[in-house]
Amino acid sequence: SGTGLILGIESSCDETAAAVVRAGSVVLSNVVASQMSLHANYGGVVPELASREHLRNIVPVVREAMAQAGVGFDDLDAVAVTEGPGLAGALLVGITYAKALAYGLGKPLIGVNHLEGHIHAVLMEARQRSEVAMELPLLALVVSGGHTHLYLAQQSEAGAWSYRNVGRTVDDAAGEAYDKVAKLLGLGYPGGPWLDALAGRGNPRAVTFNFAQIKPRPHREGISMPNKKAPVSTSRPGFDFSFSGIKTAVLRYVETHHMRQSVEARRRAIAVMGDAKPDIEAVGELCDAQTLDLIASFQYAVVGNLLRQSFAAAETFGARGVVVSGGVAANSELRRRFQAEADRRGLPIAFPSLALSTDNAAMIAAAAWPKFLAGDFASEDLAATPQLRL
Ligand code: KG4
Ligand code: ZN
Repeated sequence: SGTGLILGIESSCDETAAAVVRAGSVVLSNVVASQMSLHANYGGVVPELASREHLRNIVPVVREAMAQAGVGFDDLDAVAVTEGPGLAGALLVGITYAKALAYGLGKPLIGVNHLEGHIHAVLMEARQRSEVAMELPLLALVVSGGHTHLYLAQQSEAGAWSYRNVGRTVDDAAGEAYDKVAKLLGLGYPGGPWLDALAGRGNPRAVTFNFAQIKPRPHREGISMPNKKAPVSTSRPGFDFSFSGIKTAVLRYVETHHMRQSVEARRRAIAVMGDAKPDIEAVGELCDAQTLDLIASFQYAVVGNLLRQSFAAAETFGARGVVVSGGVAANSELRRRFQAEADRRGLPIAFPSLALSTDNAAMIAAAAWPKFLAGDFASEDLAATPQLRL
């Protein structure tokens, strides 16, 4: 031991994952047991099913990660686990297992925020490629089915990382909007990959979604107002997001353009295909031009909104680079347009590989590394924190 070997464990949602990473940068193994096809039948993640699957998978997944890394438990320097945010019961499986393992081995336990993990996945890969130097402070966009957050990542003198949340969605996450829109167009779950693959076939200028009219509600940061009559502005700097309006706009479009019948026909045809993995050629055949235009326009608007807010925040806070992470970071149009905008501004930008953009445990072990160095360990009463903030 003493070589910086960390076993990472992740069970916050619908993937049971374990990975062994050396010194926060060398991935020795990265094992993921996905429950995606299980939950696909229900159009979303079912918490009770997720916990049961995690219980079934956690031991074999950890064993496999250790075997693939070719190391024994005694070689580990620490055990890291996702403490939140996520589903309470799902988190509990990983935390309980990690705690027992760390305690039994007499090794330190490190609690990691899932979102921090997503950010570190990208930075770890950027370091490995070493093509772009990512220097702090960084503007990080975490965009998935549960989150749409902007963070300014900085480093303290002790070496620990700190994050300032400078923007977030006030309602739906961007990935959630993808999932809901895909569902209301009769497509499968999760919706992102389906819409991404189909968007290239439509005209993104066909339908205009105006984000200026979908004003985020100003929300309060627990600021008490001394005088109720004084209009105190508690809204944030203007880097928040809102995606429930565009979902409603798509729904309204489907209704006013009498597309319901074709949606139902498509839903039935796709149900017969019966597989979670979309055959895009076949699905494309099931979409008329109007539907493809609607999909292209939806994606154009969502990506444009993410892009404007992200780069405005990067400029305001003097970020020296941009990191995009989370499931929606897999989106092809997002990558293309963010890269072009970053190039235009001369800012380095990094995205995760497709393999590391979905939930995994290598990112948890990587995020744990600066904490390990800073001696930032969890106590034995580490608890699942479903609403954990970064
Ligand atoms: O990070 P993730 O795997 O799980 C969490 O939500 O934490 O993200 C899943 C989300 C889903 O909403 C899915 O529809 C979306 O990421 N997604 C995409 C794409 N691939 C996955 N959204 C847009 N375009 C994609 N290519
Ligand atoms: Zn995630």
